[in-house]
Amino acid sequence: MNHGFLQDVLAGLRLPQKTLPPKYFYDAKGSEYFDQICQLDEYYPYRTELGMLPDVAGELKQYFSGKSLDNIQLVEFGAGSLHKVKPLLKKLPVITEFVAIDISGEHLKNASADLAESFPKLQIKVAQGDFTQPIELALSQATSMGFFPGSTIGNFEPEEACEFLRSARTTLGKESYMLMGVDTKKDEQMLERAYNDSKDITARFNKNILTRMNRELDANFHPDQFEHLAIYNQELGRIEMHLRSCTRQEVEVAGESFQFKEGETIHTENSYKYYPEEFDRLASSAGWKREKIWLAPDGIFAIMLLHNADKVRD
Ligand SMILES: C[S@@+](CC[C@H](N)C(=O)[O-])C[C@H]1O[C@@H](n2cnc3c(N)ncnc32)[C@H](O)[C@@H]1O
Repeated sequence: MNHGFLQDVLAGLRLPQKTLPPKYFYDAKGSEYFDQICQLDEYYPYRTELGMLPDVAGELKQYFSGKSLDNIQLVEFGAGSLHKVKPLLKKLPVITEFVAIDISGEHLKNASADLAESFPKLQIKVAQGDFTQPIELALSQATSMGFFPGSTIGNFEPEEACEFLRSARTTLGKESYMLMGVDTKKDEQMLERAYNDSKDITARFNKNILTRMNRELDANFHPDQFEHLAIYNQELGRIEMHLRSCTRQEVEVAGESFQFKEGETIHTENSYKYYPEEFDRLASSAGWKREKIWLAPDGIFAIMLLHNADKVRD
C-alpha cells in the first residue's frame, strides 16, 4: 500500500470539509482522462496555450541569442504527455537537455519514449516524483529553464504556489528562467463550462480518485453514489471541483469509517485564476522577475517568462 497516499487521504477525509489532494487524480487512468479533457471543445486552456507556444518559442530564440546563451537544460514540472515541450524543442535547438518530472510514472515513461524518437539528439531524463517534495535532479552546469505549463500552478493555494516557485528557484539555480502557463480571470460561464463538459469526461476524471482509493487503499466508495460538481468561487478567484454525495452513506478506507450526509462534498481540486499583475506579485515574492508576457486573444490565457532575480543559489 502507498502509505503517503493513505495518510493524505485519511487526513483529508477527517476534516470538517472533506478534502483530497488533486495530485492523486493522476494514476495511469487519470492521465488518460486528462488527455481526453485536453481534446474537449470546452477546455480552452490546453489548445490556447499549445497554440501560443510556437510564437513564444520563436521570440525566446531571439531573446536567448541576445543573451549569448548556447546551452539550456529545460526542466518540465508535471510534464504529462509531453505535448507542450515539442513546439519549444522544434524552435529552440539551444535546449540540449530535457528533464521531465511527473507523478504519473508509467504514462511519463511512454510519452518520453515517443519524444526520444522525434528528437534523437536530445538528452532526456525522466523523473517520476512529486514536485512539491525535494527531488534529486543532478542538473548539469548549463543554464536551466523551468517549464510549468497547463496552469498546473493554479492547483496550489497561492501561498503554496509561492513556496513552489521559491523552491524551484533553488532547484534551477542562479540565472535560471521559468516559463509558466497561467490561466487568467475571465467570464465565469467560460470558466465553468471548461470544467463541466458535455461528454462528462471531467466528471470521470474527478471520480477516478474514488476508484483509485478502492483499488489501492482498500476503500469501498460507490462512484455512482457521488456526482461531479465544478463551480467558480468568485470571491477566491478559483474553480472548485467537488464530489457530492447523492445520499447519506458510510464509506470505509483501510478499516476507518467516514460518514457522508446527503449533499456533503469532498473537495478534490482548486484551479486558481490570476490577473497577470496578481501573478507578478506572487512570482516576485518568490524571487522571480517577469521578463516577458504573452497573452492569448481576449487575455484568456497568459504565458510568462520569469527570471531568477537573485544572482546566487539559495
Ligand atoms: C494539468 S496536467 C498538465 C499536463 C501538461 N503539463 C500540460 O500542460 O498539458 C498536470 C500534470 O502534473 C502532474 N502532477 C500533478 N501533481 C503533481 C505533483 N505533485 N508532482 C508531480 N507531478 C504532478 C500530473 O500527473 C499531470 O501530468
